[in-house]
Amino acid sequence: MTDKLNIVILAAGKGTRMKSKTLKVLHPLADSTVIEQILSTSQLLSPDKIIMVYGHQGEQLQSHLKNQELTWVEQSNPQGTGHAVQLAMPHIDKDAKVLILVGDAPLIQSEDLKRLLGFSQAVLTAEMDNPYGYGRIIKNDIGLVEAIIEQKDATDSQQQVKEINSGIIMVMAEDLNQWLSQINNNNAQGELYLTDVLALAHADNKSFNSVTVENNRSIKGINDRVQLAECESIKQSQLRSELMLNGVYLRNPETVQIRGSLECGQDISVDTGVIFEGINTIADDVSIGAYCIIKNCQLGKGTRIAAHSMLENVITDGDCDIGPYARLRPGTVIGQKAKVGNFVETKKTTIGYNSKASHLTYLGDCEIGDNVNIGAGTITCNYDLSLIHI
Ligand code: UD1
Ligand code: CA
Repeated sequence: MTDKLNIVILAAGKGTRMKSKTLKVLHPLADSTVIEQILSTSQLLSPDKIIMVYGHQGEQLQSHLKNQELTWVEQSNPQGTGHAVQLAMPHIDKDAKVLILVGDAPLIQSEDLKRLLGFSQAVLTAEMDNPYGYGRIIKNDIGLVEAIIEQKDATDSQQQVKEINSGIIMVMAEDLNQWLSQINNNNAQGELYLTDVLALAHADNKSFNSVTVENNRSIKGINDRVQLAECESIKQSQLRSELMLNGVYLRNPETVQIRGSLECGQDISVDTGVIFEGINTIADDVSIGAYCIIKNCQLGKGTRIAAHSMLENVITDGDCDIGPYARLRPGTVIGQKAKVGNFVETKKTTIGYNSKASHLTYLGDCEIGDNVNIGAGTITCNYDLSLIHI
């Protein structure tokens, strides 16, 4: 069997129910966006090619993913999942295995996909207590898939089936090409269904196998903002568990949000409501008080940040005190034993060893040496942008 793998991602749907100017798959999700989550999972399978089927507002998607190596296929007038794959077909390698993913199910796990890849043709399924809305998996006596019947086309007895189609299938390119040429839109939605391929396969004695997902959460789809929030919550909870298992102390885990990557040392303590954004590196024994926002920072060993502080592109050397209510803007470097207190704002400023700015101060484009005490209410006004040395 061929080892060549092509992945097709279907993302041409309009996403009307999001009620947003932003394309559905470009909404933020944890450390990236919906579509980037799917792409990074796809990359774990080392595919030879990823084909992205796009439609409505395609330029948004293309500019967002311009650094990714993708084959782009436009579906300007979407007529169903089968139609989308028909358009992708000329770009699919003839001898490849084809894994078809849906663009709006970002929690999909590579382990589930790898199990699918073990078959010549297989569909990823789940058992649902409430299968309403999904395509139902119809099987024969020996467990092979005879067909997938969409909700709107299902008879009463078919609607009782609780095993559903995740939307993800694996199939050989040659077979796919042949079956896709035989589908029609003679169904309740007047669409070309990709799912009709399964009945054609069964008729050809190449019935699909079904692979059940490890955890139903991983096939959760996003159609509206409620489902987006549910996926965010699942993703955040996974990221927090990873952090805690790596030794970070989250005092009130459910409230901490990780919207980027975090490299953490030992015995770091994080209080309620802290948000991490971008790329942060945090050394041992750092403590972060409640409701801080930490973005793209390198925090040295023993840095203490008190509640309600906001830090962006900040470097600390370690063993220093920041906040409460400090606002440290990009280019701030804090030396050891330094203190930046409440209602102090800094920008492009270095504060040296054992120096202090304890209250109500603005320091911009400054270089503060060692052992300096900046009095309350000090404001630097550096109009011509040359550096102030204190
Ligand atoms: C599809 C499946 C259904 C399955 C469900 C899982 C079909 C016919 N039905 O239904 O069996 O249970 O997913 O969520 O495949 N898309 C395109 N072009 C199109 C139509 C859709 O790119 O012309 C994309 C959408 O952007 C989306 C994906 O394909 O990412 C699935 O389409 P959607 O309309 O959501 O299919 P469902 O009705 O949910
Ligand atoms: Ca859907």
